[in-house]
Amino acid sequence: MDKMRGEDDRVPVYASGSQVLQKLQEKSKQRYPAMYSSVIGGIILDPCMMVIPMDDHMVHRGHGIFDTATISDGCLYELDSHLDRFLVSASKAKIDSPFPRETLRSILIQMTAASGCKNGSIKYFLTAGPGDFMLSPKGCTGPAFYAVVTATASSSSRLRPKEGVKAITSTVPMKHPFFAGMKSVDYLPNVLAMMEAEERGAYASVWIDDEGYVAEGPMMNVAFITKSGELVLPAFDKILSGCTAKRVLALAPKLVEAGLLKSVKAARISAGEARQCAEMMFLASGLPVLPVVEWDGQPVGDGQVGQISLAVYDLLRHDINSGPDRIPVPYT
Ligand SMILES: Cc1ncc(COP(=O)(O)O)c(C=O)c1O
Repeated sequence: MDKMRGEDDRVPVYASGSQVLQKLQEKSKQRYPAMYSSVIGGIILDPCMMVIPMDDHMVHRGHGIFDTATISDGCLYELDSHLDRFLVSASKAKIDSPFPRETLRSILIQMTAASGCKNGSIKYFLTAGPGDFMLSPKGCTGPAFYAVVTATASSSSRLRPKEGVKAITSTVPMKHPFFAGMKSVDYLPNVLAMMEAEERGAYASVWIDDEGYVAEGPMMNVAFITKSGELVLPAFDKILSGCTAKRVLALAPKLVEAGLLKSVKAARISAGEARQCAEMMFLASGLPVLPVVEWDGQPVGDGQVGQISLAVYDLLRHDINSGPDRIPVPYT
């Protein structure tokens, strides 16, 4: 027989939208400065209204892709490279964009302007859209585009990294190259790899593929400086082609000209070779360069932040602050 339930065990039933709104206002701790939703058809500034439908195919089946871009001192950095990758991911996930590329771009710029945010990032998602909780997206009403702005501290606080971080090798199985090569929202392996690193006192983990080659981290690419002065980034055939990593490949020849490096390349690098390197670093849009000084409990090189990692950081920071790929946000 069912235990008699007391008054306190009863689940409240909110029949009116205003009661739900009040609860959302009480609970919404995160204050995101702006969101765009194609379901609503506009930009939302009230944080407690920044919601997506529960029957969206991204929510219950992971049928969505996403990408990001950095806002630095009122400019969007490398938005076009991120949008290119976004549309490649969309095509691999068989999601048609509800808007042409130029409209997506314009929405993201207008949303950033409406947010007033000068430093932070934007994240945007393309999904199969709201539907009927089925596995097939046939019942979805049509693809949806969502975007959000997240604010961070001012760019002046993003100083050259003085200290390096620790890395571990992940024991979480790596994604199949087909899935690793697109930025789908299915980040469970990445989340578990990140949690594993945190549990073991490291900043992040590194995947080694089944042939023993270095792959990537759960939200970053990896780069190495060999003892003979080569900058090596693991080839992109089994991993996400990182916008930061690709920018480093384009900019680093300047360090060759300056005599700091011998060469720059994307190539397969075995874990054994990588462990012999003089320097190691993580690369990702939000970092953008983070020197790694310890890997699986062993010092990388001399265990100190390397000079070339700092030179790569300086190159990227200069590109973010005054390079050619910046869109000034038209704040009003
Ligand atoms: C799995 C993975 N690899 C690499 C990266 C780095 O990519 P990007 O430099 O474009 O931020 C990311 C970024 O989120 C990622 O999720």
